[in-house]
Amino acid sequence: MWGGRFSTGPDAIMEAINASIDFDKRLGPEDVESSLAHADMLGATGILNVSDVSAIKEGLQEILSELNSGEFQFSADLEDIHMNIEARLKDKIGSPAGRLHTARSRNDQVATDFRLWVRGQIDWVDKNLVDLMKALLDQAQNGVSWIMPGFTHLQTAQPITWGHHMMAYVEMFSRDRSRFKDARDRMNECPLGSAALAGTSFPIDRNQTAKALEFDRPTANSLDAVSDRDFALEFLASSSICAMHLSRLAEELVIWSSAQFRFIELSDRFSTGSSIMPQKKNPDAAELVRAKIGRILGANVGLMTVMKGLPLAYSKDMQEDKEQVFDAADSLNLALCAMEGMIKDLTANKDSLEFAAKSGFSTATDLADWLVRVLNLPFREAHHITGELVGLAEQLKCDLSEIELKEMQRIHSGITEDVFTVLSIENSVKSRSSYGGTSPEEVQFQIDRWKKELG
Ligand code: ARG
Repeated sequence: MWGGRFSTGPDAIMEAINASIDFDKRLGPEDVESSLAHADMLGATGILNVSDVSAIKEGLQEILSELNSGEFQFSADLEDIHMNIEARLKDKIGSPAGRLHTARSRNDQVATDFRLWVRGQIDWVDKNLVDLMKALLDQAQNGVSWIMPGFTHLQTAQPITWGHHMMAYVEMFSRDRSRFKDARDRMNECPLGSAALAGTSFPIDRNQTAKALEFDRPTANSLDAVSDRDFALEFLASSSICAMHLSRLAEELVIWSSAQFRFIELSDRFSTGSSIMPQKKNPDAAELVRAKIGRILGANVGLMTVMKGLPLAYSKDMQEDKEQVFDAADSLNLALCAMEGMIKDLTANKDSLEFAAKSGFSTATDLADWLVRVLNLPFREAHHITGELVGLAEQLKCDLSEIELKEMQRIHSGITEDVFTVLSIENSVKSRSSYGGTSPEEVQFQIDRWKKELG
């Protein structure tokens, strides 16, 4: 009944679900690299003879140039990158090509290629993070003593410095770097030689291949080596946290560049216009950076879900690891570059920052602290009195520093002229000189530390 309809159908569908070449072709250079190391080792241990090894290596080098130049013809019926490269090697050098797969399986091959690829991406991410941190450092240095409102609940809280705010992100991105570094150190073991799952009976030298591929050592359990993808998950988890940091900074850029805030102006190079409203300059790049966390965290959840419940060792489910990681890595690197560009180009508006810092009674805490320090009041009582003074200022529609001393004394008779010294935003930030605090001096100390660290 189904014969006519299904006689070829299932094969085509099988091919469609099974073939990974459309995406794993990105592993081409890593596949050649690990094959070269494997071939050298097979020669050095005498498993293959010298002339076969040199034919294999020559063929692989040619394939690498074809991959790099875009000439390489990928074929879906050869399933994946490993089979495509092996078939091409056979076209080129004939039967010795078949010897390359001695003491190896696609299972340890793909685990090795993929580790090499992820490791390379971590190095890119690290470079992009450093560039972004340098851009933030420059902004911080430029406005080290500029005063802006610091927020909690997005309500004006206390005056802070622009430099301090920029440097907060330097700290976050530096922790991201250290997370990627941890992940890199842990993943830097070579699965090659684990073969299908149990190791091999050939007298291979796993230390040689590990060293050639710049891994710290070979993996110590062949079942584990071919069947875990925790290295990719750690990359995705670190990427998710980093993307979350980017998303928060991007959100601030969106808010700060709005007409209501005017804290910053984004450059034309990183903004777009509206096709209907001529006055608009939209922070599209910031919005897209803000959104990238969706794909990156999605990849993290996606791969975790693929891996959970898989019995040891390899299952084809694991072929679903790559697209997500590729997409997450591309998204993260692009977002980092876009953020670096925006930060480098943006102009902070010193006057608007200061104007905003002066509104919202941002020095109320300084006033309460003064009552504690000078009048020796308990903080709770000082808090209450300050609250009343804020209420009064609100009634009078003026700032705390503009209430007359007489009026203040009506609320607490002990208040003296001296109180006005703490009501200015300049004195407020200057006084917050505890380690890690917002005073320009303290921020400069941190900037100098980071300049030295980043070179
Ligand atoms: N394309 C496969 C993957 O990405 C390679 C490993 C195939 N191994 C196998 N036993 N079928 O997972």
